[in-house]
Amino acid sequence: MKVGVFDSGIGGLTVVKAITEVLKGAEIFYIADTLFAPYGEKSKEQILKHSFDIANYLIKNHNIDALVVACNTATSAAIKELREKFKDLIVIGTEPGIKPAILKTKTKNIGVLATPATLNGEKYKDLVSALSKDSQINVYETACAGLMNQIEAGKIFHPETHSMLTNWLEPMKNNGVDTIVLGCTHYPLISEVIKDIMGVNIELIETGEAIARRLDDLCSNKVHSNSDFKIEVFYTGKIKKDMINMILNDWIDGGKISIKDKNE
Ligand code: DGL
Repeated sequence: MKVGVFDSGIGGLTVVKAITEVLKGAEIFYIADTLFAPYGEKSKEQILKHSFDIANYLIKNHNIDALVVACNTATSAAIKELREKFKDLIVIGTEPGIKPAILKTKTKNIGVLATPATLNGEKYKDLVSALSKDSQINVYETACAGLMNQIEAGKIFHPETHSMLTNWLEPMKNNGVDTIVLGCTHYPLISEVIKDIMGVNIELIETGEAIARRLDDLCSNKVHSNSDFKIEVFYTGKIKKDMINMILNDWIDGGKISIKDKNE
């Protein structure tokens, strides 16, 4: 079972982690499209082009059976078109977990942190209006421009990142938000900082596990669960390899991991 996974950088590894927990024996080809990052500050047309190029590359060079778009922003811009164009491929996207947040909140105030492109996209607006219509939920959204760059640079516990997050989260805190949707796959990497600002009892909703379960439902017959997994990470621009190593080694047990420049 060969699974292609992509994101603009290291964020989608939060989804890879969940996949390795559910689908033992999968071979994962991961593209970190850092040359073109951040996706969240690009146009739909630009993101669409990159998503097509990456899908074509993964099909041609790695013969993938399934494609996981481990990026909320690329899902919003390109999932419909990817499914139309690659009809024989299993294509799974990532969407902000509004529904689980509505089910979790006690105060009926939820926060959403995502990229500008995700929050401005039609897909997100349709999702929120469909789900919050009858539930009397207040949704506090924040477009976190620049946050992805801080995470890619490894500035997770940096005072600059803390102060950016404090500015975005204080209004949520003052409005009684008890549940926050992490609407970008990079943001689980800063969960600790969010908890430091919002308090340890804040509920943080991420979607990696749901994506892994969906992938398992669609392809468990193709996986040899007794074999080990293999992850090949390819990057297109600059990347902090120590961040990848830290994430993969801290989280993932066993398996074979390699990190390469996509153009080599
Ligand atoms: N990790 C991505 C997401 O889930 C996007 C980050 C970016 O490139 O702006 O939206």
